[in-house]
Amino acid sequence: MGEYINQFTASINDPEAFWGKAAEAIEWSKRWDRVLDDSRAPFYRWFGGGRLNTCHNALDRHVAAGRAQQTALIYDSPVTGVVEHFSYAELLDSTAKLAGALASLGVGKGDTVVIYMPMIPQAVFAMLACARLGAVHSVVFGGFAPKELAIRIDDAKPKLVLAGSGAREGNKIIQYKPLLDEALRLSQHQPEAAVVYQRPLAPAKLDNKRDIDWNELVEQASPAPCVDVEANDPLYILYTSGTTGTPKGVLRDNGGHAVALRWSMENIYDTHPGEVFWAASDIGWVVGHSYIVYAPLLTGCTSVLYEGKPVGTPDAGAFWRVISDHGVKTLFTAPTAFRAIRKEDPEGEQLQRYGLDAFRYLFLAGERLDPDTYHWASKKLKRPVIDHWWQTETGWPVAANCMGIEALPVKAGSPTVAVPGYDLRILDSDGKELGANQEGAIVIKLPLPPGTLPTLWQDDERYKESYLCDFEGFYSSSDEGYMDEDGYLYVMGRMDDVINVAGHRLSTGSMEEIVATHPQIAECAVIGAADGMKGQLPLGFFVLKSGNNADPAKVTEELVAMVRKQIGAVACFKQALEVKRLPKTRSGKILRATMRKIADGKDYSVPSTIEDPTVLGEIAEALAEAGYPSLAPANDSNPHYS
Ligand code: COA
Ligand code: AMP
Repeated sequence: MGEYINQFTASINDPEAFWGKAAEAIEWSKRWDRVLDDSRAPFYRWFGGGRLNTCHNALDRHVAAGRAQQTALIYDSPVTGVVEHFSYAELLDSTAKLAGALASLGVGKGDTVVIYMPMIPQAVFAMLACARLGAVHSVVFGGFAPKELAIRIDDAKPKLVLAGSGAREGNKIIQYKPLLDEALRLSQHQPEAAVVYQRPLAPAKLDNKRDIDWNELVEQASPAPCVDVEANDPLYILYTSGTTGTPKGVLRDNGGHAVALRWSMENIYDTHPGEVFWAASDIGWVVGHSYIVYAPLLTGCTSVLYEGKPVGTPDAGAFWRVISDHGVKTLFTAPTAFRAIRKEDPEGEQLQRYGLDAFRYLFLAGERLDPDTYHWASKKLKRPVIDHWWQTETGWPVAANCMGIEALPVKAGSPTVAVPGYDLRILDSDGKELGANQEGAIVIKLPLPPGTLPTLWQDDERYKESYLCDFEGFYSSSDEGYMDEDGYLYVMGRMDDVINVAGHRLSTGSMEEIVATHPQIAECAVIGAADGMKGQLPLGFFVLKSGNNADPAKVTEELVAMVRKQIGAVACFKQALEVKRLPKTRSGKILRATMRKIADGKDYSVPSTIEDPTVLGEIAEALAEAGYPSLAPANDSNPHYS
């Protein structure tokens, strides 16, 4: 651990020197006054006084430095049969034009813009155009239903909404425009305009007086220049699930973000200017923000924007085809994608059809990487498979095997060690630091490094409450786990009601809020149960109101429809079980963690605070009848694997 230890120690002992040096890789119009401002701790600020523009660093500077003809973005869309290449000059052109169009509608520095778009190049233009104007974008994942979009619109209060008219999901065409109209009917805040990009696969009626046709608007616009912002001015808001139904608006600044992402590309991903990077995710998630859009472009790489799935578009060879066609060096996706590929092509026969000469690394994150999937991917790909751990809040990896610094030995089941900048610790519930192999809360000693969330959008209090109050002086990740004697981290799972479904972060709390509104239900709980394909799936329990003899199957059907309508298909809420009672503590708290263990077939102890232990038997019976824990991943019941 030579070079890694050197870098890690330098970053913790003298963060100002470490990040000040990293910041030299970014073009600033004015150098910062201080690298780290701790005068308002626990609110830390990086590069205060510095001025820059993120879009300039992602596009203009590369064009000026000779990368004009290099491909910046490859749009590969098996669902429409289109492959398009955009050089840095072309991407700059399209972005500047769109920025001019947005400016013509009055969008300027500090204004918010909601982007509700599928995986098309225009979505990337939109994010960068906002950055160009100093406006703050908030991308909402296309799989969310109108109500979720409305919640985000009410919180971000956008001047404009930018939308695509629709997308293809499997065999379905999803019309986005009616979803947007419904969201704007539900939201209190009304944007001044909705700019809609028409896709031939899903033409939309622009029949509302706020609707504007994207192409017509852009045609009339002149390109807009970059607007300088202060390092701590906001670049974007990305809403993420918390314990309650109200999502948290994670805020990202401009300066620290650019510095950290630029650093991460070479040091963590070992991917350099001119090389091809592919994050197979969606721009609606943090992986898409950081590693489809910003980091590869800030680095002068070629980024792949893939509008397809790992399987079914058209087959389980889709990823190998993209890697081969575009000379991808580094692929980043979620383990669930590999489980999907493995299920369809267990022998990896599809791999033989493609040349993967340029392919060097597979990085996986977003959910726990089960050892079976790790071993399968390593064996079939014969390349390093790197598990790494981070969160929407941090914006870039917290624990990883930093391939650009030093390749450390892999331990299956561990995302390796703390990345330079992150002082990772494990604490018990009293805040006492735990030793090697002792399980507790995974926390990061403040200050967090650049690029991580400085606060929540217009909600300093919630930021403090959510992340800083559990352990004074530390950021609480809400994940639990342990570190071994070599400092390798093992992430065991969330301590709150957040679940991970196919790498998508969702709140069981928000599902519970919906289930509870069913008129025939007295009380309910929603937990995340292990699933061999998607990692976790939500599972509901409900108690019918007394004297109510409703058909449980019909109630379940109604609940499934309610959650799908209110959160969206992405919630994957497909199962709810009727029970006579829910297990509770004497003070009335539902014992969700114990229910989760029963569902997953794990050992559990009966909590001493339980009101009536016999209820647990009833829950186990209901679960067994419904086929649980047969959905848990095979051969992986013990999380302390090696
Ligand atoms: N717009 C509208 N609907 C969407 C959507 C979008 N952008 N994305 C997903 N959905 C829908 C799906 O069509 C599906 O609907 P259904 O219930 O009618 O079938 C539902 O939401 C659940 O989607 P998902 O959980 O993604 O399941 P899937 O079967 O469509 O695909 C995987 C499963 C594993 C192939 C896919 O989730 C995947 O590739 N995941 C890994 C990569 C990734 O996106 N990671 C995220 C963070 S790194
Ligand atoms: P998101 O904010 O959507 O990126 O989800 C973050 C959460 O996903 C984390 O808090 C973890 O619970 C989980 N997660 C992400 N990466 C990993 C990983 N490599 N191993 C285990 N859990 C992970």
